[in-house]
Amino acid sequence: MMKLDTKHAFLKEDILSYQDKVNAHHEALMNKTGKGNDFVGWVEWPNNYDKEEFERIKTVAAEIRNKCEVCVVCGIGGSYLGARAAIEMINGLYSKDKVEMIFLGNTFSSSYIAQVLDYIKDKEVCVNVISKSGTTTETSLAFRFLKQFMEEKYGKEEACKRIVATTDKARGTLKAIADKEEYETFVIPDDIGGRFSVITPVGLFPIAVAGIDIDAIMNGLKKAYDDMADPDLTKNDAYAYAVCRRILENQGKNVEMLVSYETQMTMVAEWWKQLFGESEGKEEKGNLPTSANFSTDLHSLGQFIQEGKKVLYETLLLVDKPMKDLTFPSDPENADGMNYLAGKSVDWVNKMACQGTLEAHEVTGGVPNLILTMDDMSAESFGYMCYFFFRACAMTCYLLDINPFNQPGVEVYKKNMFRLLGKN
Ligand code: PA5
Repeated sequence: MMKLDTKHAFLKEDILSYQDKVNAHHEALMNKTGKGNDFVGWVEWPNNYDKEEFERIKTVAAEIRNKCEVCVVCGIGGSYLGARAAIEMINGLYSKDKVEMIFLGNTFSSSYIAQVLDYIKDKEVCVNVISKSGTTTETSLAFRFLKQFMEEKYGKEEACKRIVATTDKARGTLKAIADKEEYETFVIPDDIGGRFSVITPVGLFPIAVAGIDIDAIMNGLKKAYDDMADPDLTKNDAYAYAVCRRILENQGKNVEMLVSYETQMTMVAEWWKQLFGESEGKEEKGNLPTSANFSTDLHSLGQFIQEGKKVLYETLLLVDKPMKDLTFPSDPENADGMNYLAGKSVDWVNKMACQGTLEAHEVTGGVPNLILTMDDMSAESFGYMCYFFFRACAMTCYLLDINPFNQPGVEVYKKNMFRLLGKN
């Protein structure tokens, strides 16, 4: 479940005044008549995902888990962020799971690539290379290193058994390599774009390799699908959140800061930034999605939020139940003066920090706060949250009359880079 609270948002328009528009956009989304309708395969995915492939994901993931200590996931953007967000949120940041997940193919940093190759040198390694186009330069560059590394370490035959490719069903260079080398492959559906693809093999395979129950993710997805069947803004919090974003923008707030109080949600925020930034930031429209982790960033960005230019609103992404709680210990000497917290739950301390900060930012700072609360950081909650944000993202873009599913702007840097690199 994910609940929206708008009590602290200073909304100057009535959310319900958007109901007619929301109904029309909901119809367009469900009937595939809206902008970008070639890429709405994710809408019905909770019902019609390929069950056979889903079972194969579990089988291959179990085989990989049996033979490797490290799985290197090679991809970028939508072919990277969702899996990492899920794995860090659900397993935590210092997971003791037997397979360590490492991410590559998401940078040209030679320092980083070299560090990863050195780190995995003496470990049992498997690779999942992910690219829908099959030609993304960051991913292709890293994968060439990985392929040679694997072939040198294991010999050609065994290397091919340890590499799994997730790509288009027919097109692209990666598909051609995978066919030639006879890698195990999973398919990225044609009608689901990168930033919506964590619920396909793109996300599900690495998530399963990390030992996470992907059935639970699909359960969460389906629950969200059912909860969002009705566009009624008094019931549909994803659409209500989408409307709030537009209302706040009308009030001059052009920056949305997604705030979490759980360190292991940092990559969820990175995933969310891509989802909203790449979907909405076009035609010189859209809110800039940014993020912070509290209370950590209260010791850095907190000053700006409290007293800086009033350009932003905060969306708190709160978690009811922590992964683990601790009781703060008593100390007879009390040299640090902290005994006033002895016997208290640390999660309670975190929640009090949240309450105090909300009051400071809202009342004293005049910063609007939307609050989204999820139950916990389980696999099911992850699935629910993904679908909630997908629907919210599509709706908020349609309210701006924008196609949420393309990303024409990302080609510009590539063109310049290819010219400088001498690519034909
Ligand atoms: O959302 C998107 O479409 C992008 O972020 C892509 O996922 C990213 O560029 C990677 O593309 P590909 O999967 O083709 O390598």
